[in-house]
Amino acid sequence: MSFKEKIDSKRLPKHIAIIMDGNGRWAKQRGEFRVFGHENGVSSVREVSEACTELGIQYLTLYAFSTENWNRPKYEVTALMELLVKTIHSELKTLNENKIKLLAIGDIESLEENCKNELREAIQITAGNTGLNLVLALSYSSRWEITNAAKCLALEIKSGKIDPEQISQEVFEKFLNTSEMPDPELLIRTSGEYRISNFLLWQIAYAELYFTPKLWPDFRKEDLYEAIVDFQNRERRFGMTSEQLNP
Ligand code: FPP
Repeated sequence: MSFKEKIDSKRLPKHIAIIMDGNGRWAKQRGEFRVFGHENGVSSVREVSEACTELGIQYLTLYAFSTENWNRPKYEVTALMELLVKTIHSELKTLNENKIKLLAIGDIESLEENCKNELREAIQITAGNTGLNLVLALSYSSRWEITNAAKCLALEIKSGKIDPEQISQEVFEKFLNTSEMPDPELLIRTSGEYRISNFLLWQIAYAELYFTPKLWPDFRKEDLYEAIVDFQNRERRFGMTSEQLNP
């Protein structure tokens, strides 16, 4: 029985987030430059987007470029940006055909002009789509997002629009990049690393974490199904006891 057949379609996670890791190691194993790994990682992006669309998952967030990734060698940063621009451009037709809506979180202003423009255009063109929300985390880090939210909230307080006494988790969340999205219920990281790496720290408070040794360019639909089956086999208690959940 394949993992797909084991999935209970009534208990799907609304939002899956993925830390796509291991592209560099995948390339190195083949005696190639790191960029070769990133290029092959695009096939995995396509696979998971297609699988999520077929299953009816509402949100898929991919950690494509972190704030810290700016510190990589210049040639790798340039190659990653070019790959993003090229991929967004070439996949636009497929996104529309599959009713996928493209969204982005992160410090988008810090991206290079051509990347920013390509992204904005694709977001605009797919804005009316009603299927999967494909969220690219670009120049993203959670600490940046939370600090930025605090700054925006402080400005609202300064201008008298918000009384500090009104601040609650719900009010604070409105200033996060993800304010319109449900929190991820399943967070996957590939490549055998057990870290969160500054990704969606606020939003994954109750997410189930799933780690796989598979390197990102090897990640296929069946791997996603396996992660979902694993998710569905867990008991999500949200701080309560097992007895409370199963009286
Ligand atoms: C991490 O692997 C991967 C990245 C920093 C970039 C991910 C980008 C893509 C898959 C390309 C295109 C994406 C989209 C959404 C179009 P790593 O380089 O850290 O690998 P390593 O840990 O083995 O060195």
